Amino acid sequence: MKVHFGDCLNVLPSLRIGSIDLTYVDPPFCTQRQHRLSTRDRTIEYSFDDRWKSLSEYGDFLSERLRVIHLALAPTGSLFFHCDKTASHIAKFLLDEIFGTANFRAEIIWHYKRWSNSARNLLPAHQTIFFYSKTDNYKFNTVLTDYSPTTNVDQILQRRTRDQSNKSVYDRDDNGNVVYNGTKKGVPLSDVWDIPFLNPKAKERTGYPTQKPVFLLQRIIELVTDPGDLVLDPFCGSGTTLVAAQSLMREAIGIDTSKEAVALTKKRLKQPVITESFLLKKGLKAYRNADETALSLLNGVPYVPVHRNNGVDAFLKSTYKGVPIPVRVQKHGESLSEAAAALRKAASSKNAHRMILIAIDDIPTLFPDPTIPDSVVVVNAPGLSIKRLLAQMELEDQSGCHAET
Ligand SMILES: C[S@@+](CC[C@H](N)C(=O)[O-])C[C@H]1O[C@@H](n2cnc3c(N)ncnc32)[C@H](O)[C@@H]1O
Repeated sequence: MKVHFGDCLNVLPSLRIGSIDLTYVDPPFCTQRQHRLSTRDRTIEYSFDDRWKSLSEYGDFLSERLRVIHLALAPTGSLFFHCDKTASHIAKFLLDEIFGTANFRAEIIWHYKRWSNSARNLLPAHQTIFFYSKTDNYKFNTVLTDYSPTTNVDQILQRRTRDQSNKSVYDRDDNGNVVYNGTKKGVPLSDVWDIPFLNPKAKERTGYPTQKPVFLLQRIIELVTDPGDLVLDPFCGSGTTLVAAQSLMREAIGIDTSKEAVALTKKRLKQPVITESFLLKKGLKAYRNADETALSLLNGVPYVPVHRNNGVDAFLKSTYKGVPIPVRVQKHGESLSEAAAALRKAASSKNAHRMILIAIDDIPTLFPDPTIPDSVVVVNAPGLSIKRLLAQMELEDQSGCHAET
C-alpha cells in the first residue's frame, strides 16, 4: 500500500503506464464550498476546497487529470468515477471523450435513505458513479444477488426456450412436462445500489468530509479486480479505497493534496475499522423487522410500525392527551403481566398516558391482574375471543348432552 501527498497530476506520471487494474476517482464535486469536518474528539479538523471560478475551470481540472489516469490504466482495467448532479454532465462528457463512448459500461446510482427536509425540491437521495473500461477486453466478475420476493417462482425454477415464432416460453419434455433448471443462483447485480450512508455514530466514520462507506468500495473492487491486482485512488481523502482494497487482498495507491488526509489514510491502514451494516448483512426485509404477524392484528387502524424495538410494536396515529398511543401484541409464551411490563418500559420515554396491549394467549384470570397498571388497556385479539367462545360453546354442548342422557 502506498500513500502519496500531492496533486495527483504531478504524482500520476511516476506510475508505470498500463499498470493499474482499477481506478476509483472521487474528486471534489464542484459544490462551491469549503468542506470542513472534525474528528469526534474535535482534536483534528479536516478540510478541502471545492470552490471554482467557473464550470469550465472545474472541467479543465478534471480533464487534465483524467487523461493521465487513463494512461495509467491496464488494457483490462476500469475506471469508476463518483459525482453528483452538480457536475455529472461535465464528467460524462469528458469521460466519453477520453475513454470513448464504446467503453462506457454503466451509470451506477448509489441510492441511500435520508431523513432531512428539502423545501421546494425533491430530497436528494443518490449519487452517480460512471463505470468505463479501458478497452473491450476488461475484467468483470459477475455478482449475483437475491431474487426479489415478487419474482415468480416458475421463472426461477423452470427452463425457458424459444417457440417457432421466437417467443420465449417454458420448455417441456416429450411427455409435455415442464423442465426444471436446477437452482439458479440469483440475478446479476443491477446498476442501482442500495447502500446506506455511514451513520453519524458508525465506528468506521473518521470525521473526514465526504467519506464514503468501505462497503461501496469493496463492491466496486470485487466487480472488476482479482486478489493481487492494483487499485489507484488519485483523490483518496480518508483512504476508504485503500482500506477496502487491503481487506480484499488487493494492492492500492492513494494520492491526496491534504497532509491530514494522507496521515489519516496511513492510520486507517494500520488500524482498519469496517462497520458491518445491519441492513446489508441481513437485507432490507430483516431491517424492517417489525413483528408482521403482530401488526396484522391492527389492520384497519392507522398506525406507524416500530422496527427493532422489544417493547412496542406500533404507535397508533390517533393520540390520547396529545401523545401517540403505543401498542404491543402479547408474544407467545409471555404472560400478560410480562407483556405489560415490557410495553411500559419501552414507552416510558414517550410519556404515553394510555397503552394498548393485545392479548393473544388464553390465560384464565378470574380477577383483573393487579400487576397490569390502569394505563395499560388490555384488548383480546380476535383469535383469543374466538378460542374463548369455542370453549364456552363446547361447555354448553357438553352440559346439553348430559341433560339429555
Ligand atoms: C470527495 S473527497 C474524497 C473522499 C474519499 N473518497 C473518502 O472516502 O474519504 C476529495 C479529495 O480530493 C482531494 N483533492 C483535491 N484536489 C486534489 C488533487 N489535485 N490531487 C489529489 N487530491 C486532491 C481533497 O483533499 C479530498 O480529500
